[in-house]
Amino acid sequence: MVSAKIYYDNDADLALLNDKTIVFLGFGNQGAAQAQNLRDSGIPNEAIIVANRPDSYAEDAKSRGFNVEYDFAKAAKAADVVFLLIPDQVQPRVFNEQFVPNLKDSTTIVIASGYNVFFKLLNFKPSQDVVMVAPRMIGSSVRSLYQKGKGFPCFVSAEQDGSGNALATALALSKGIGATKAGAIASSAKEETAMDLFAEQALWPNIIVLFREAFSVLKEAGCSDEALCYEMWMSKEPAEIFERAAEDGFITQLKHHSTVSQYGQLKGALQLDGSATRAHFKDILYNQVLNGKFCKEFSQIEADLEKQDATNPLEQLYAEHSKSELAQAEQRVRSRLQGLL
Ligand code: NAI
Repeated sequence: MVSAKIYYDNDADLALLNDKTIVFLGFGNQGAAQAQNLRDSGIPNEAIIVANRPDSYAEDAKSRGFNVEYDFAKAAKAADVVFLLIPDQVQPRVFNEQFVPNLKDSTTIVIASGYNVFFKLLNFKPSQDVVMVAPRMIGSSVRSLYQKGKGFPCFVSAEQDGSGNALATALALSKGIGATKAGAIASSAKEETAMDLFAEQALWPNIIVLFREAFSVLKEAGCSDEALCYEMWMSKEPAEIFERAAEDGFITQLKHHSTVSQYGQLKGALQLDGSATRAHFKDILYNQVLNGKFCKEFSQIEADLEKQDATNPLEQLYAEHSKSELAQAEQRVRSRLQGLL
């Protein structure tokens, strides 16, 4: 059995952050929420710098009273702690080029996603602490739950312990942003990256395919596009099922369904042989995610896009998906049934 340690407010000491200058590189989804939570936890506003390029996010930070610094080298020189809260794909370039040469040997670097650390895309000095404080929630929920006095699920780890005290600092920062209130789960960049990329590249693609194929089979059997769209997702029934799964239990939520439904689902799932799916999942995990194959492919796409000599492959992928029976039908249904949506 693998059970993770869970850290609560009592395991963390905010005093470790006294007299430290804390830089938020990025004031977006996570940056805005975490910076405000930290300030509301008692970290003085003058100890916080938001390093941001001049854009609407910088204006937002200013309007909320934060000190905004456009000069990243200057922000880096002042930082005792730096939260990396710009999009993952731009972190290597911005951090390695503009922050790394200017950081102190003792700066703590905080990541909210394991990707760039696990795949070794960021440069650190051995004397620096590198910690992960990774909320499992979108930024607006990180903020609203904090304001309600509640916690939120979060992963925490010390990835590089230059000071010998990295975990304690990680826990202090977690407490500051409100993550130890409900319990921060000990994890690692590897675990976070494996689970995240696996969900994105194995679990959800399979769910997309299941819906796509189910749609075509039922359509061929004579079901209308309108009935299928509503039955399968537009009624929001799948969203409700997952909400119940989170609240009551993954299987226990079935008790909210009719007896016919319960019997059909329980029996059907036991009858399915999952061995081919398991083999396919293992292949994705080991031969695409953990071995860095996907990371290499994605980094190349980013590099090409930066040189502006490539079209964004996402457009091509969306175009391919729009050809399925499900997507074509949904487009027709949505244009016909505006009032019902
Ligand atoms: P975001 O997309 O909201 O970031 C916007 C911020 O990045 C703004 O401050 C913007 O000025 C800055 N920015 C964007 N492009 C830039 C560039 N080329 N150069 C300099 N600054 C740039 O980012 P988000 O979603 O908050 O993600 C930040 C980190 O948090 C990532 O590591 C992500 O994986 C992690 N995370 C995100 C979650 C989410 O709900 N979005 C949940 C948990 C972790």
